[in-house]
Amino acid sequence: MGGAPVRKVAVFGAGYIGLVTGACLADLGHRVVVRDINPEKVELLRSGEIPIYEPGLGDMVAQNKERLSFTLDAQEALDGAEVVYVCVDTPPSASGDADLSRVWSVVRSLEGASHLKAVVMKSTVPVGTGSRVRATLDGAGLGHVGYASNPEFTAEGTAVRDFLHPDRIVIGASEEATARLISDLHQGVDGPVVVMDVRSAEMVKLASNALLATKISFINEIATLCEKTGADVEHVARAVGLDHRLGHHFLRPGIGWGGSCFPKDSEALRQLASNTGYHLQLLSAVIEVNNLQKRRAIQRLKDELGTLTGMRVALLGLTFKPGTDDMREAPSTVLASRLLAEGAEVHCWDPMARPAEVEPWRSTLQHVSPELAVEGADAAIVVTEWPQLKEVDWARAVSMMRRPLLFDGRNLLNPGAMRALGFTYISVGRP
Ligand code: UGA
Repeated sequence: MGGAPVRKVAVFGAGYIGLVTGACLADLGHRVVVRDINPEKVELLRSGEIPIYEPGLGDMVAQNKERLSFTLDAQEALDGAEVVYVCVDTPPSASGDADLSRVWSVVRSLEGASHLKAVVMKSTVPVGTGSRVRATLDGAGLGHVGYASNPEFTAEGTAVRDFLHPDRIVIGASEEATARLISDLHQGVDGPVVVMDVRSAEMVKLASNALLATKISFINEIATLCEKTGADVEHVARAVGLDHRLGHHFLRPGIGWGGSCFPKDSEALRQLASNTGYHLQLLSAVIEVNNLQKRRAIQRLKDELGTLTGMRVALLGLTFKPGTDDMREAPSTVLASRLLAEGAEVHCWDPMARPAEVEPWRSTLQHVSPELAVEGADAAIVVTEWPQLKEVDWARAVSMMRRPLLFDGRNLLNPGAMRALGFTYISVGRP
């Protein structure tokens, strides 16, 4: 801990962010109680199991079990807590604005917790939320309790590493003492601390995700143009990214971005602008390009097959990216819905996703291997770049398919090798 005091921290929300935050703060030496309203989740966590798939998280929870506990009871979490982390989800509401009802129920539960030193917002919230929370705390007799925005930049699949080795720790606080308290909590984390006002910190989170999404939509548009002009987007992206001012990250073309953050946060930022009477033109185009990108894959199959009615199509990979079991806003969901709407039969494979109970997946057939999913198929789509797909015996796979049509939505495979095996191989932005 290098001299910084050990704190008692209450983390509200045991989702991806809350669990990673709680486990990492415990690993830094703090005493952490994670509170969630879902009894099954809390029960699982108490028995040492992790309800989500996140590499390294299970080990970290196990290694820190003396300092890390789980509860359903808000008062138990708050008992003696000096810092409260708000890590509840903020899903889109009917208007596209973030639904803050879970945030408010946490804030309401703090009434009477006069021993608190600070409330920290990790949940992604609209700019200006901090001022409203501040006013609510003041109204509840908690005027002496500091407030900070400490947005999260970890990505699923690498969240534990990202937390401990971040590019930056952003702390938005109006009082210096609160900023110092939150900064000290992170002692042992390998990354620069950037302190600013609350509104700016709230904006950093939304702007960062929007810019990352912009890079992807940009390269996806360039990929489409490469297809029309005979250029190869992989060469283009590599060389563009070598310019140190641009960088090579988030220039991988594909079937579109998804997940629990980019779709929700880009829409929330767009609505935030609309609420002020300003139309964010660039971000609107970024979202539109992404919606089209997912649909283009289906059109490409239609171009090849004439119709999708009665065709059997295999979706290889369902999660929004590899290394996670998360299906939220996954491009696969749009592809499956579109295929079913076109009258196709959908077969799928994924090593982690468990989508059976969710629409539209109820009408699809799930297989335990990619080979079984493509058997008898008229087309297969690589939707998620799981490394297992590189190991598929594609020579055998092509012989098992009814038609050898393969759409590689992640440019995972080698075009020359796949064509040599007899595939009609289509990828994104490659000739
Ligand atoms: C994203 C951000 O990367 C994190 O910094 C942020 O903290 C997080 O959202 C959040 O707001 O909580 P995540 O959604 O876990 O993290 O996933 P990413 O790795 O960013 O990927 C998002 C989507 O973009 C995926 O569908 C991925 O396949 C796609 N992508 C990513 C591309 O299509 N091309 C790329 O070059 C990179």
